[in-house]
Amino acid sequence: MEPLRFHLFACEQQKPEGVPGCAARGAARTLDALRKEIAARGLTDEVQITSCGSIGLCERGPNLIVYPDGVWYSGVQPEDAAEIVESHLQHGRPVARLVNNDAGALAAEVRLNRDKYLAGLRARDAAGAMPDDVMQMIRGYQDSRVVLTAIELDVFTAVGDRTTAAEVAQTIGADRRGTEMLLNALVALGLLTKDGGAFAVTPVSRRFFTAGGQNDARAATMHTVGQWERWSKLTDAVRAGGDIAGAEIPHRGSDWLQSFIAAMHRNASERAAAVVHAAGASGVSRMLDVGGGSGAYSIAFAQANPQLHAEVFDLENVLPMTRGYIAAAGIESRVATRPGDLRSDVFGSGYDLVFVSAVCHMLSPAENRDLLARCFAALAPSGRIVINDFILNAEKTAPKAGALFSLNMLVGTRQGASYSEDEYRGWLAEAGFEKIERIRLAGPTNLMTGTRR
Ligand SMILES: C[S@@+](CC[C@H](N)C(=O)[O-])C[C@H]1O[C@@H](n2cnc3c(N)ncnc32)[C@H](O)[C@@H]1O
Ligand code: FES
Repeated sequence: MEPLRFHLFACEQQKPEGVPGCAARGAARTLDALRKEIAARGLTDEVQITSCGSIGLCERGPNLIVYPDGVWYSGVQPEDAAEIVESHLQHGRPVARLVNNDAGALAAEVRLNRDKYLAGLRARDAAGAMPDDVMQMIRGYQDSRVVLTAIELDVFTAVGDRTTAAEVAQTIGADRRGTEMLLNALVALGLLTKDGGAFAVTPVSRRFFTAGGQNDARAATMHTVGQWERWSKLTDAVRAGGDIAGAEIPHRGSDWLQSFIAAMHRNASERAAAVVHAAGASGVSRMLDVGGGSGAYSIAFAQANPQLHAEVFDLENVLPMTRGYIAAAGIESRVATRPGDLRSDVFGSGYDLVFVSAVCHMLSPAENRDLLARCFAALAPSGRIVINDFILNAEKTAPKAGALFSLNMLVGTRQGASYSEDEYRGWLAEAGFEKIERIRLAGPTNLMTGTRR
């Protein structure tokens, strides 16, 4: 069966540094060029291109196989993409100068490379070398720190389209030698390019990390800069059982709050459509958004249902930011703000929907029981609660994002954690909710819902 006219397998295998392989020989750029060429010629419905692991011609990459023809290309450069697509895929004439013609020689080369590779693995294992993925885990902080320092110093904005290290150092008020090393590392990570002595942003770093970028995420990423500091105290937090977080959210200062709410807004804006779709906004006329942050979810619920009025309940010093986001969405008439303390306030009554997003993980189990009882009391008969949060398996070991996030709460809150579905079910039932359900969403968080009879 051939569902498509052509299926291309392009090797993008990453090998340890110094070992020949397609990734090191520029496979990503070749693949990109092929994809663009296929799209430009309107062939995306007929031609599938799949990046794959090694096909055994590692010293002659980037390699590409075209099926159903079974044509093996080697040494394919980005400049060859147009010719391959036009000549082979459109006119049925493989590009002879890049094709491997001797099947026997090819099979021998594949076997030789496979044997060399397996022998290398055995030798590394015998020498007690750590597996690459474990090494990567141990050194992962380096990539993260390079990017966060660049954001902290606003390096990408300073680099722009073409700048030397000396100019960047002057703009950001930093040491020239240190700046140059940082810029070189950013090139190695693929977030800058370097041509001679001149550095430039890539499309991705321009879009997310420069002033005026299409989706400027610098303010939100500054929240991760703060998290990095706290994660560096993880050992202390594990020893002490948490409680090293310092000031609670209301007292962390306006810079911290700005980047925190900006980060919440980015996350929430990305997930809001899926959450509103899954939770359902129809039939809701009054909604309470407990710890609503930037208001991104309330805005999305109100946009989905013109009858819906939402109240974003949050700390007094957060709400001016919330009002800014609501005004930017032009929905002030239906999304209001309400100051208060979600740890103790009575929320009122008569709401059709109480939404609690990314709040339960800040609290202890006892605080969550208390919170959910007050949410229950705030609902009208048949009203619903929707909780949006990381929801762990019973062993609390998966999903990975939730299990790691629990440590984020260990270092960042007094008693927060990620909780399991069973814990949420228990608290909701204890508060009086019925029809308790878990709604699975793509991505890191899920919904838990319950209804007040
Ligand atoms: C992790 S954020 C989640 C924001 C929003 N619900 C979302 O999902 O994007 C937690 C929110 O709870 C608010 N918050 C923390 N402690 C609070 C308290 N004691 N009373 C009211 N709001 C609080 C924070 O200001 C923040 O907006
Ligand atoms: S790494 Fe691409 S063929 Fe081996």
